[in-house]
Amino acid sequence: MAQQENALYTPQEVREVAGLIRSLEAGAKKGPGGQKKSFTCKKTTFVLAGTDGVTVDSWRFNDWDYKNPDLPTYARGLFTFQTNGKPGIAIRGYDKFFNTEEVNKTRWHNVETNTRGPYELSVKENGCIIFISGLPDDKLLVCSKHSTGVRSDVAASHAVVGERWVDRQLNALGKTRKDLAQELRSRNATAVAELCDDSFEEHVLAYVGDRAGLYLHGINLNLPEFATYPGHLVHKFADEWGFKKVEFLVKDDIQDVRTFLEGVAETGAWQDKEIEGFVIRCQARDSEGEPWHDWFFKYKFEEPYLMYRQWREVTKAIIAGRNPKYKKHQKITGEYLKYARRQLASDRTLGKKFNQNQGIIAMRNGFLKERGLTGAGIIQMESEDGGEGSADVMRDVLLTFTATIGCGKTTVAVALQKLFGWSVVQNDNIEGMKGRSRRFVGEISSAFLTGSSVVIADRNNHQRRERKQLIEDVKNLIPNATIVAIHFVHEQPGVSRHASLERIRQVTRDRVFSRGDNHQTIQAGTKSQPEITGIMEGFLNRFEAINILTEPDEWFDTVIDLDPTASSRENLEAVVSRLHSLYPKLFHEMPTGDDMDEAIEFAIRDYEPALKQKLFSTPSSSKKEAKAAQKSMKLTQNPRLPKIDYFCIRLPPNPILTVLESHFKAQDAMTQRFYRQLQQSRRIQPSFHITIIHRANSKEFPDVWERFNTMHKDALTAATTNNTNIDNNRPEPELETCRVVLERVVWDSRVMAVVTRLLDAQEKDLGTTNELAHITVGTADQSIKPKESNDLLHTWLSGGSGEGTGISEMEIKGNVVIGGSVRGVLQRY
Ligand code: GTP
Ligand code: MG
Repeated sequence: MAQQENALYTPQEVREVAGLIRSLEAGAKKGPGGQKKSFTCKKTTFVLAGTDGVTVDSWRFNDWDYKNPDLPTYARGLFTFQTNGKPGIAIRGYDKFFNTEEVNKTRWHNVETNTRGPYELSVKENGCIIFISGLPDDKLLVCSKHSTGVRSDVAASHAVVGERWVDRQLNALGKTRKDLAQELRSRNATAVAELCDDSFEEHVLAYVGDRAGLYLHGINLNLPEFATYPGHLVHKFADEWGFKKVEFLVKDDIQDVRTFLEGVAETGAWQDKEIEGFVIRCQARDSEGEPWHDWFFKYKFEEPYLMYRQWREVTKAIIAGRNPKYKKHQKITGEYLKYARRQLASDRTLGKKFNQNQGIIAMRNGFLKERGLTGAGIIQMESEDGGEGSADVMRDVLLTFTATIGCGKTTVAVALQKLFGWSVVQNDNIEGMKGRSRRFVGEISSAFLTGSSVVIADRNNHQRRERKQLIEDVKNLIPNATIVAIHFVHEQPGVSRHASLERIRQVTRDRVFSRGDNHQTIQAGTKSQPEITGIMEGFLNRFEAINILTEPDEWFDTVIDLDPTASSRENLEAVVSRLHSLYPKLFHEMPTGDDMDEAIEFAIRDYEPALKQKLFSTPSSSKKEAKAAQKSMKLTQNPRLPKIDYFCIRLPPNPILTVLESHFKAQDAMTQRFYRQLQQSRRIQPSFHITIIHRANSKEFPDVWERFNTMHKDALTAATTNNTNIDNNRPEPELETCRVVLERVVWDSRVMAVVTRLLDAQEKDLGTTNELAHITVGTADQSIKPKESNDLLHTWLSGGSGEGTGISEMEIKGNVVIGGSVRGVLQRY
């Protein structure tokens, strides 16, 4: 980071900016979901209020695209403009930065070797980001990450609230918007601030009274490459222009940085203040000899922030009349709940406000005050008590797996049994199809009753619903059980999903094929190779990673992450040493390396399953089940099955219609007109969906089409294994679920569509081969096909809406999330 203020100024090069915009345009044009694109970029054009049609364009990547190595820019928050035919950068956010260990570059080892100081550690403020800059005509531009607030249809967007704060600051200093615009423009810079204002939007940490406002945390040069001011100059600017300052401290040595962060993380409080984490600013290079560039990473604290979040969630649960579920901070959370119940009973308006995210902090602080405690103090006390009593655990420990076929579950389980004599309950040994889950848990419970202190449950639990069932049923029978998840991580941080799975495929297929028939159900020596790989692929596709922040995984007491491609010997040692440090009384001494070698050798060489059975038709399953299974196998293999027309995310119509109605109702007659016309002529679609891929595009995107087809076939097979009823005439089972955000309604005189965002797109690798994920609401008459919404949205993306375009748009307020169901839809004859 340059230390001289004047050395920081660098003007924009028109050619460079034009090149950037060209690559972004290309990214905005190609359809997501297909193998051709390397990234997707969404362009939105905003007409600035109070101008004569001046526009700025916002460029937005999908979050996961930032892990892509060849983006034209990594700016998160980027706005461009045109003046006299020349392009320019109006707003330039920071390069997207990641948590420690989240991607390859932020692994400590790499941070230690490829970064240099000074390291500026700034407190991660907890609000939303606001960008401020000056346009050529001295107009001040205030934006949130991807939009600017001067829009007639938004009452109080982040940008609008940000702008009000800027005005307030400027008034207090006797300066004008024009002054600030000129200043920023002369620096070719964007001011980056955090909007922290509870009266507008309450986040988890408190910002009221004097603490509310705009916290300036950076000043970036408006260049494609990331270049940003050092902290002391950011402070200077904040003082001159009335911003609040973000505290930062400087360290020269990365080891000091790490020691400091890990020390503060123990309590989550720094200088008596609870904070969420730190952003660390420094310089990095790609490898030795490469040039240095400005670079950020972040370090997020777990506590007491996570405890507060847990309190917020349990409070919402009791307001909704649900049973609050929590596993961390048990004792104190129980006490907090008593307090919260008392408060909610004494003031009936509290619950409603709480659900609107108001009064959360007052509730928490009221409790802490009554008890004379601080969040940091509680965490400190808990750690002095040995971390919630886990040190005393000596029995009733259940080890579970979250894995796919061939990860080495049985090998690790058998080796643990060999070392410690613990019981192993194998799902594959349970015969028949009926009540398998119940019987599995029954066997686990008997194993505890017959005296095993630890029981290993050998089953894949690759989907959340299986983990939910297992945890719930075990907790019913053995309420004090400590449940450990051994998680074979399928998506390595910093590696693409595709590459991660490919490595796992190679290793597990090799293992399973060389295992041959030495298995209860997956008998690779006898079954055909495609049949086995098909079953294995099914598991890989359905695999849902553990996420300890959500149900049911939050109920696990501990998660031990393993790499499926590591040797079972390494994985065994990882499990044993984690168990030893978590539960020191579970076994006295760590086994030696030789012991572990021997145990693994036994598990790989000498172990044989007690039983072999065939999937789908076991001797002990009832005739009816066997028949049903055969029928289903036929169903999935029958070449005369109706063909799939398209894959989509099916959405329930009623909540969508309600949202449309309430939004249109608030508009003027002109805006409502086309919607009312669709209603009156009964041209609103009878059901709503977002197309993922249509048969017509299957040639263009063969991988996507193939992937969903495989999922469909697997789901048909799985549905029969689980005895789920499927109508044989219209088998359209659910392949996945996906939460969808309704963002914007766009229409012309022919067709109306809702632009949507897929919340689970990244985690579940979902997308669309269309240009934009959208719902077609309806078309003006029968001759207009719903797919015309693609053309509408294409035109809208490039030319926006408003006068002269024939296109109208309306933002959907309030972050409306709808639960959707991914399905294949059969051709109708
Ligand atoms: P399923 O029960 O089919 O879901 O598989 P699993 O997860 O129980 O895998 P398992 O432990 O059966 O391992 C698969 C095969 O790979 C077995 O034949 C093991 O003996 C073998 N195997 C497991 N770990 C290793 C290892 O580290 N090295 C080698 N060479 N083979 C291994
Ligand atoms: Mg096994």
